[in-house]
Amino acid sequence: MSDPARFWDKFALKYSKKPVKDMENYDKTLDRARNHLSGSDEVLEVGCGTGTTALILAPSVKEIIASDISSRMIEIAKEKAVHQQVENVRFDHATLFDENLEEGSFDVVMAFNFLHLLEDIPVGVRRVNDLLKPGGRFISKTICLREQGRRWGILLPIMKRLGFAPYVKCLKVAELEEIITSAGFEIVERGLYPPSPPCRFIVARRS
Ligand SMILES: C[S@@+](CC[C@H](N)C(=O)[O-])C[C@H]1O[C@@H](n2cnc3c(N)ncnc32)[C@H](O)[C@@H]1O
Repeated sequence: MSDPARFWDKFALKYSKKPVKDMENYDKTLDRARNHLSGSDEVLEVGCGTGTTALILAPSVKEIIASDISSRMIEIAKEKAVHQQVENVRFDHATLFDENLEEGSFDVVMAFNFLHLLEDIPVGVRRVNDLLKPGGRFISKTICLREQGRRWGILLPIMKRLGFAPYVKCLKVAELEEIITSAGFEIVERGLYPPSPPCRFIVARRS
């Protein structure tokens, strides 16, 4: 089992019981995302955690494949789907690089609170681009901790060594946007939900 999988498996039950910390900004994120979804969309969500967002957005699209590196997160998500009687979301234990994902097959890829956890974000975003149909949309929200100075860059590696944090890349908003545009996207909407700590919401269209 990989390091991040082990970390998130341990944390999954606690994560599933934690209420959304900032409901106002979560709702804004969902509303903005819905504006870019349609009832015919085939959607992939990566890093779906325990499935809360996929299950909420399910009525706005045709089908969602929601995947996560943590098998425990996916077990909990599957239980929630049964309990909520949502039938158009398939939860998969997989990463963004799973070979069963077909290139050029999705209308939308969603990644909420995910990109900063990748060791190589440019490679991850290029993979998202490959998975989308031409004109497909990438909807993401990413915390940009480098906007808060250098302290997280010092603290997080220590927390990781002690087992209290996964790998986290401290990003600037401009750096994140540059990665996304360099991967072949045009950014069509951006926002900060919340502004502090800065969580960059971005909708980008595959050229
Ligand atoms: C901060 S949680 C976000 C969960 C959910 N998207 C949300 O917004 O509540 C990050 C999730 O990404 C998953 N994850 C971390 N690294 C991953 C990777 N390399 N591939 C797939 N999933 C990953 C973790 O297991 C975890 O469920």
